[in-house]
Amino acid sequence: MQIVSTIADARKIRASLNGTLGFVPTMGFLHEGHLSLVRRAREECDAVAVSIFVNPTQFSPDEDLNRYPRALERDLSLLKEAGVSFVFTPDAGEIYPPGFATGIDVGEVAKPLEGAVRPGHFSGVATVVTKLFNIIQPTKAFFGQKDAQQCAVIRRLVTDLNIPVDVVVCDIVRNERGLALSSRNSYLTGSEQERALLLHDSLRKAQEHIAAGKRNASAIKTLIADILSKDPDFSVDYISVADPSSLMELDSIDDEALISLAVRVGHTRLLDNILVRKE
Ligand code: PAJ
Repeated sequence: MQIVSTIADARKIRASLNGTLGFVPTMGFLHEGHLSLVRRAREECDAVAVSIFVNPTQFSPDEDLNRYPRALERDLSLLKEAGVSFVFTPDAGEIYPPGFATGIDVGEVAKPLEGAVRPGHFSGVATVVTKLFNIIQPTKAFFGQKDAQQCAVIRRLVTDLNIPVDVVVCDIVRNERGLALSSRNSYLTGSEQERALLLHDSLRKAQEHIAAGKRNASAIKTLIADILSKDPDFSVDYISVADPSSLMELDSIDDEALISLAVRVGHTRLLDNILVRKE
């Protein structure tokens, strides 16, 4: 496995590879969620590239950029074990040299939910992912459904800018008790981890409700809100029942819906979601 930190070296390796290339962009501190994307990329492509870059432009000034967890040596050994061909680990100066000025605005799909709570976040994501696509030039790129709005933003970006990459979205990986894996889970205390199980429980209850024929979106949001309100230390940023592609809120679930939520558990902000389809 080759490890490079300059764009010039990444381009050289890319040029030397034949066949299809799968790409998994990450911010490191890897867990089974990230590794599931790497494994899928290995299955579907001849070679796999992974980037590890904690992208400063997708964090707002009051967010956790400096305390974002890092474990580069451990990440590299996991990626080697997983059969990755090369890892791109640039520093911020390589990606954003002096004079850097361009940003990508993906429009409406980036505005609600995470976009409303974290202004500028998706412009930072769209810009860095476009740069990474241009550097790595993958055949397919793998993203996790865990960040459902990010997936919708990337699909919009790739379609609108005619980027020649197939976007593959992979299922959420959870721990044995249902908590969606996240690098930020490392911030949770033991008791917070336990209480955070309520997020997935609330989504499962919503799913049961829908399977039983209940279609009204605001009733489903109320059901979830009632479950989450059982923990007085939770602060709910949003509960959404939306179209999975446009992220426009739905009044009723007639076909497919993305039920997503963002909750602050203590000082940590957790996301979870579930896709539901009419049977
Ligand atoms: P990061 O949070 O490191 O996530 C990298 C990829 O792993 C994303 O596609 C994310 O959705 C996926 N992922 C995280 N947890 C997962 C889980 N439990 N199950 C399945 N997939 C999971 O997302 C980013 O980095 C950045 O925004 C990035 C795209 C790299 C741009 O900077």
